[in-house]
Amino acid sequence: MPEYLTQAIDSPAAWKALPINTTANTLIHLNSQQIVELRQSADKLDSHNTTWSECQFEDFELASLKPVVESIRAVLEGGHGFVVVSGFPIDISITLTKRIFFSFGHQLGFPDPQDAAGHLLHDIRDTGSDPLKVDDLRLYQTNRELDFHNDGSDAFLLLCIEAAVAGGQSRLVSAITVFNEILARRPDLARVLQEPFPFDARGQQVPGQPRVQTVPIYAYHEGYLNVLFKRTYIEMAERFSEVPPLSEPQKEAIELMSTLCETLSIEFTLRPGELLIANNYDLLHGRPAYQDHPGTPGKRRHMLRLWLSLPNGRPLPPHFKNTREFSHSFTRRQDLNRSLP
Ligand SMILES: [Fe+2]
Repeated sequence: MPEYLTQAIDSPAAWKALPINTTANTLIHLNSQQIVELRQSADKLDSHNTTWSECQFEDFELASLKPVVESIRAVLEGGHGFVVVSGFPIDISITLTKRIFFSFGHQLGFPDPQDAAGHLLHDIRDTGSDPLKVDDLRLYQTNRELDFHNDGSDAFLLLCIEAAVAGGQSRLVSAITVFNEILARRPDLARVLQEPFPFDARGQQVPGQPRVQTVPIYAYHEGYLNVLFKRTYIEMAERFSEVPPLSEPQKEAIELMSTLCETLSIEFTLRPGELLIANNYDLLHGRPAYQDHPGTPGKRRHMLRLWLSLPNGRPLPPHFKNTREFSHSFTRRQDLNRSLP
């Protein structure tokens, strides 16, 4: 029997209108020593002719960044759940930037695959394709608006290489605050959201699992409330004959949730060299549609993305084992003897 949460959660992750600044501990500026160290590490990896995906923890000496990494981990799990890091060096080749980024992420946690092919680092760009015509196209590969949703693993990292000419801002909302608000307004719908919904897996399902995963939007487990919400993929699941139509309470619940995500969210623009790091269980994120610079291929909006399992990650609900989003983090939790970074 699932454990239904019927009381509001009091947590640092239950925030509203949190500003992006150093006072709120939502913004970290890399200092000159840290930037020099990052550049030196890139040079070292370049001289070794190592590809980014072969980087190991010990390849990257980040002594001056250790306090930063520790504070980020504490914010992601047990804190308000996100941080923007500014000053990330990007005025180098994209290959070196990817090596630095991957190695930085590797200091923070364990990079996890982001697709069925096992890729550990994704380029987030508009491919010009239509998700209604290409079966396994994922929405991050378009310039469309992205509804509030989770990424995979404990946390995602999004490094801005090039911003859009218009739109594409980052939106964040505390899913804990959203739940508390739903509970206050409609406790019946708070219960509905803790029961299973169908999600189109977009061809990325765990091997052996069906193309539609059926899981709750909110799951309370061992004192933690965890969210898994992708309205677009819930609605896309109805294209499959094996998926029954959503019930009226289910439709009402996701409509209320979407509305509250909009009204309770914060919005900001990531500039080149800024890195957003956010927890996937307490927070949802999204973006409005964007436009690229016309006729200038090098000026297209471009983000690099990592998904990480954290060494200080929370216990996860058993059904996460078979979700395409959280199966890797779930499996890593099983190996308690793994050496931590
Ligand atoms: Fe995302």
